[in-house]
Amino acid sequence: MFDAVAMTTVDTRAVHAGRDDLNALGVHVPPIDLSTTNPLPSISAGGDAYEKLATGGPLEAGDSPVYQRLWNPTVARFETALADLEGTAAAVAFASGMAALSATLLAATRDGHRHIVAVRPLYGGTDHVLATGLLGTTVSWARPDEVAAAVRPDTALVVVETPANPTCDLVDIARLAHAAGNVPLLVDNTVATPVLQRPAQHGATLVLHSATKSIGGHGDVLAGVVACDADWAARLRQVRAVTGAILHPLGAYLLHRGLQTLPIRVRAQQAGAEKLAGWLANHPAVERVHHPSLHDPAGLVGRQLSGTGSLLAIEVRGGAPAAATVAAACRLITHAVSLGGVDTLIQHPASLTHRPVTGDAKPADGLLRISVGLEDPEDLRADLEQALALIS
Ligand SMILES: Cc1ncc(COP(=O)(O)O)c(C=O)c1O
Repeated sequence: MFDAVAMTTVDTRAVHAGRDDLNALGVHVPPIDLSTTNPLPSISAGGDAYEKLATGGPLEAGDSPVYQRLWNPTVARFETALADLEGTAAAVAFASGMAALSATLLAATRDGHRHIVAVRPLYGGTDHVLATGLLGTTVSWARPDEVAAAVRPDTALVVVETPANPTCDLVDIARLAHAAGNVPLLVDNTVATPVLQRPAQHGATLVLHSATKSIGGHGDVLAGVVACDADWAARLRQVRAVTGAILHPLGAYLLHRGLQTLPIRVRAQQAGAEKLAGWLANHPAVERVHHPSLHDPAGLVGRQLSGTGSLLAIEVRGGAPAAATVAAACRLITHAVSLGGVDTLIQHPASLTHRPVTGDAKPADGLLRISVGLEDPEDLRADLEQALALIS
């Protein structure tokens, strides 16, 4: 075990978490275990392990992992590291962020509890799965101050995203947890990452990530993860085993490696986003900039969030046609969905990531989301300058 005194900051934890057995194994980086099946010591021992893992139990010393859909050591390592960073007892990793959300909804909606209270804005896919009730849930949309009144005896879960994708709206997690009462609170922490915000410290029951974004950080892994206590982890593992949405071990290896540079990437990308947000706020073609460095009405930066993050959005004058012109004109910045990676991306949420969102909750026609990467902010500014000149 590492000396606890030397593991006090997220920077140190990010580098070492989930690796404390490596010296004993005689290796410097984690092994990748690709076995889809595992030798069984006997029918009875194999059967006992199968039973335990298929019902959500963790692997114990001497157990065979049996089959990759039930347990994988490389995935478990990443989960240990992520739970360490989020400050939770456990984490459960999935093949995508949406698989993580789906498993959470399935695990939460038991015993006739099928009602979800959700705070908008949310990522379009999350909004869509809740609005359609595809997984057998019903939803009440509520502003944060309406959550207590919206909770019913059959409410299974309160869902919130903060900072929210795409407008970076901030919600006070502690207040929301209080409003939710005994109902579990799910916080999507994809945008902030555990470097800037640890929702469990503020009362969240479940902390969800699209690990596809900042945690992977390089646009080459699709993944999701939920950080939570041991009981929830067992429920989620059971659903994962049954529905088959476990993360692939190669992805888990890359995510675990991605965690090591997460703090430094998040802070550098955030510095670029703050510079761009300040510059864009004064650009004549831009009506409004959404970024926590410019808009934090409840004073959550410094209290709940230790920084403002790398995601921003702009509303350009001229609506959807102007937004289309700007997105298409960017040269250094890639016109593509996703966020949190090392290269800067721009996209039009109303047409793409938030396309299924209906009514007032749909992002504005002129809104473009920008995920700021690690490029020199002056180069990004020059690219946006030439693109915005076309609509000025
Ligand atoms: C905030 C947020 N949550 C969840 C998801 C879904 O994650 P995935 O695309 O990995 O399924 C996304 C994807 O963009 C997201 O931005």
